[in-house]
Amino acid sequence: MKRILTGITPSGYPHLGNYIGAIKPSLELLDEKCESFLFIADLHALIKVSNPEQLNQLTHGIALAWMASGLDPQKTYFYRQSDVPEITELAWILSCVTEKGLLNRSHAYKAAIDINKESGKKDTDEGVSMGLFSYPLLMACDILTPNATHVPVGKDQKQHLEIARDIAEKFNKKYGEVFNIPEAVINEEKTVIGTDGRKMSKSYDNIVPILSSEKDLKKSIMTIVTNSQEPGEKKDCKDNILFSIYSSFATDAQIEDMKLKYEDGIGWGDAKNIVFNDLNDLIKPIRDKYLELESKKSDTEEILQTNAKEVRNHTQPLIKEVKELVGIKKL
Ligand code: TRP
Repeated sequence: MKRILTGITPSGYPHLGNYIGAIKPSLELLDEKCESFLFIADLHALIKVSNPEQLNQLTHGIALAWMASGLDPQKTYFYRQSDVPEITELAWILSCVTEKGLLNRSHAYKAAIDINKESGKKDTDEGVSMGLFSYPLLMACDILTPNATHVPVGKDQKQHLEIARDIAEKFNKKYGEVFNIPEAVINEEKTVIGTDGRKMSKSYDNIVPILSSEKDLKKSIMTIVTNSQEPGEKKDCKDNILFSIYSSFATDAQIEDMKLKYEDGIGWGDAKNIVFNDLNDLIKPIRDKYLELESKKSDTEEILQTNAKEVRNHTQPLIKEVKELVGIKKL
């Protein structure tokens, strides 16, 4: 049976990019014939989020975004990474079979080092935490602890999956076949660009929020960068930020219709109104559900804890087997 697993790091408030790139595809892949594990990677978030209260709120936000988008915690194991201690326990054991060089090649670590190099720092590791360096190792343990077979992720996570496979193969070869070699299910679809044309990301301050008020949603759509063409002038869809954002969520028919409007010279203000209205129609049920769930924080907590217990029914026997294989066992 397929065992699908994926996680979202609660390092920012959910935006359209998360919804289209992670939340929606993670739910679309699930069917009756698979087991599914969807979790909130709060330990990964600790690398970036240093404010404790904020980490707690962001974790709550991702939990709500997932449930409001249709995740059914009765059918899916839905949990918080930190509630499954076998993940971090495995991380130490696997760190002992993982060569440092494998992690040296990780894109995120290399990017951090490049920034230091460019700014002329003598120690190129300056400011790089062990958490950042070991990120792919912990991610491998997220996947391997419940022994997942399929991992849906965005393109940017492809390398992390390769690292997870390497680590699993290495362990299996050295100690015995314990781990499934997980397959990446790359969601090649759309990388959602932000209001300024770069990839949508909290760090660029260019996001379209999905759980904010209607007013804030509208505000973010109005900030999308356009050009100085006047109403009546024919507009080009190609390389147009507004059109690209619209295409990331609109239906094929809506996109075709917008193309015609561009040719007819729709004004930017009118085009933005259409984008806002269609997005708002899509998001409204999610926002309403989110607001309903937000007021029931203790129910959400209970769901996460109950699910974590069930996940541990899988992860505890696995970690026991791993420990025995490496020789950590009773005398
Ligand atoms: N690194 C992923 C991201 O930033 C989140 C993540 C953490 C994850 N652990 C995972 C994804 C395990 C898939 C499987 O998007």
